[in-house]
Amino acid sequence: MGSASTDDKDPLVIFTPSGKRGRFAKGTPVLQAARALGVDLDSVCGGRGICSKCQINPSFGEFAKHGVTVREDALSEWNEVEARYDRVKGLISGRRLGCQAKVMGDVVIDVPETSQVHRQVVRKEASTKPITMDPATRIVMVEVAEPDMHEPSGDFERLKDALAQQWDVHQVSAALPVLAKLQTVLRKGKWQISVALFQPDEGGVVQILEIWPNLHEGGIYGLAVDLGSTTIAAHLCDLTTGAVMGSAGIMNPQIRFGEDLMSRVSYAMMQEGGATEMTRAVREAINTLGGQIAEDAGIDPKLILETVFVCNPVMHHLLLGIDPVELGQAPFALATSDALRLSAPDLGLSTLNPQAQIYLLPCIAGHVGADAAAVALSEAPEQSEDLVLIVDVGTNAEILLGNKTKVLACSSPTGPAFEGAQISSGQRAAPGAIEHIEIDPATKEPRFRVIGCDLWSDEAGFAEATAQTGITGICGSGIIEAVAEMRAAGLLDGSGLIGSAEQTGTPRSIPTGRTHEYLIFDGTATGGPRITVTQGDIRAIQLAKSALYAGARLLMDQMDVDAVDRVVLAGAFGAHISPKHAMILGMIPDAPLEKVTSAGNAAGHGARIALCNRAARKRIEGGVRAIQKVETAIEPRFQEHFVAANAIPHKTASMPNLATVVSLPDVNFGASGGGGNDDGRRRRRRG
Ligand code: FES
Repeated sequence: MGSASTDDKDPLVIFTPSGKRGRFAKGTPVLQAARALGVDLDSVCGGRGICSKCQINPSFGEFAKHGVTVREDALSEWNEVEARYDRVKGLISGRRLGCQAKVMGDVVIDVPETSQVHRQVVRKEASTKPITMDPATRIVMVEVAEPDMHEPSGDFERLKDALAQQWDVHQVSAALPVLAKLQTVLRKGKWQISVALFQPDEGGVVQILEIWPNLHEGGIYGLAVDLGSTTIAAHLCDLTTGAVMGSAGIMNPQIRFGEDLMSRVSYAMMQEGGATEMTRAVREAINTLGGQIAEDAGIDPKLILETVFVCNPVMHHLLLGIDPVELGQAPFALATSDALRLSAPDLGLSTLNPQAQIYLLPCIAGHVGADAAAVALSEAPEQSEDLVLIVDVGTNAEILLGNKTKVLACSSPTGPAFEGAQISSGQRAAPGAIEHIEIDPATKEPRFRVIGCDLWSDEAGFAEATAQTGITGICGSGIIEAVAEMRAAGLLDGSGLIGSAEQTGTPRSIPTGRTHEYLIFDGTATGGPRITVTQGDIRAIQLAKSALYAGARLLMDQMDVDAVDRVVLAGAFGAHISPKHAMILGMIPDAPLEKVTSAGNAAGHGARIALCNRAARKRIEGGVRAIQKVETAIEPRFQEHFVAANAIPHKTASMPNLATVVSLPDVNFGASGGGGNDDGRRRRRRG
C-alpha cells in the first residue's frame, strides 16, 4: 500500500466529499492514493479492473476553494481495462475506474455515493438519521497461489495467505461445508475466487461464509425481521448498498395457540410439548417468509448470509426453542438477556444459506424485549435534548421515555385491538379497509377513506374508485379515528358509552341488546358488509389505550414529570395513526400536537440498522444496560393509571394542548336509556 508523498513537487490529490488530500508520486493509482489517505473508496476485486466498485469522478478546471488547477491530463489516459469494462458493462460518462486511473497532476476526485463502502442509506420516513453502511459481511476477491509440490500446503492455507497479503485480513476460519467445496471452486475460478467474509467485531476473527469462482456479481443479502406476536415483518436488504430489495409480512402462525403473549405462555405451561409446537410453527413461518421475499425480489435465498431478529421476550424464547414459562410469573426471569450470535441451522432456518449468521438484539428485561432495544436503536432517545416519549404500538406496546440524562423503558399488554383484531368490523390494513374517518359534529354523518383510494366517501367518483376493492372493514388506524371522532361528535360520552338515537340525534345510533352501535357504512343491499362500531369495540379500544397510557404514565412517574416535550408514535401502523385522534382517545399523554410525530416501524428499522452496521450492535448491547426498566405487571401505580385512563380521553389528567385543537362535548349517556355501565362522572367542558 502506498503512502502520501512529502515531495512538494508531487501532484496534489484532493478527494471529495471527505476533503482528504495528499501528495503522491506521478503514476500512483487513484485507489492506492485513496487507501493511503483512508478515503472510503470501495473495491471487491482488489484493483484487478473487474468489479467496478472503485468508480470515481475526476473534476477539471479551476478550484479556488482548494487552491488547485486541474488540467485535462491530470489522470492517465483511459487504458485497455477501462475501455473493455466500458464496452462490456458501460461506464457512466466522466467516470473512471480508480484502480486503473493514475495520478499525473494535481487533481480533485469525487467519490460518488455508490463507490463508498460506508455509504449512507437514507430512511424513507426521514425522521431519524440515515444508516451508515458498515455490515459484518462483505465480499472480497482474491487470487490464490496454485499448489506447489516443493512447498506443500493446503488450498485453505494458501487462501488465508492470499487474504492476509491482498486484503490484510487475518484470523480466518471456515466451516466444513465451505472447506468441502473450496478445491472445486478454486479450480473452477482458475485460482481467483470471491469470498464472503463475516467479521462481527472490527479487527476480530473472520469467518468465511461462502465462496464463489471468479467475481461474484449476484450480491449478498440480509434479512431484518421484526417478529411480533401478531405479525412477522421482514425487510430483505442488500448487504453492500443497504438497499431494501423487498419487504413482506405474514401473520404469526402462533396466533392459533393464543392471541396474546400470556395466552401463549399458558399454552406452553398447560400443553405437553406446547412450547416446541410453537417454536416449530414460528420457524416454519420465517422459512416461508424468507423464501417468499427472496423469490419476489428475484434473489436466490441462499445469498441471504445474515439475519437480524427483534422480538419481545416471549417470542424471543419461542424462536430460540426455550420454554417461556418463567416469563409468565414474577420475577419474569429471561433465560438470557444478552445479544445472541447464532447460525441458521441453530434455528432450523433451512431456506437461508446454511452458513447464514443470525443476530438477536439484546433484551432489556423480562417483559421488555429486543424489540424495545431495536426501537431505542432506531429512535436514540439517549441522544435527545428534550424529553421524548416513544410508543411502539402493537399487541404489546414498547414504551421508552428519556433524554440525554436517563432512559426508561416498559412494555404494556395492549392486546391486538389496535391491529384491528377483536373489533367487530376490524381487519388488517389492506385495500378496502377504512383507514380514515370524519364525523360531522352537527349532522353526526360519517365520511371515510379506504386503503387504495385517495377520495373521501362523499366525493364524486368514490363508488367507482372502490368498486374493485369494495369497502371491507376497519383497520387499526381507522378504529382509533372512529372512536375519537365519535367522542368529538358527541356520540360517545367520557366514560365510553355510545348514546342512543334519541340522545345523540342520529338514526345511525342503533340499539343492539342493552347497548348501541354506530353505523358507519351499510353495504348489505349490494351484498357488502355492514360496518359499525359497537359498544364492545369501544371497550376493547378503551382497554388497549388504557394499557398504553398507563405504561407511559408509569414511566413519567418514575421520571418525576407531568408532561413530555414530544411523542413519537411507532409500530407497524404507527405511521398511520393520526396524532390528533390518538390524543382525543387518550392513548398518549397530552403534548403539543406538532410535537407528536410518527416513526413508522421503529423496531423493524432498528433491526435494519443492526443488520447494516455492526457498530450499532455494540452500541445497543451497551445501551440496554443503561436503560432502566420498569415492570408494569408488579407496579401498583400501573393499575391506578389504567383505571383512570379508561375514560376518553382521561378521567383526571388535564389536557391543555388537546383543548387548543378540539372542544369535546360534555355528554353523559349513562343517566337514562344508555344501558351501559357508565359511572356517572361528567367531564368538564374543554376549550
Ligand atoms: S477495484 Fe475492482 S475494478 Fe477497480
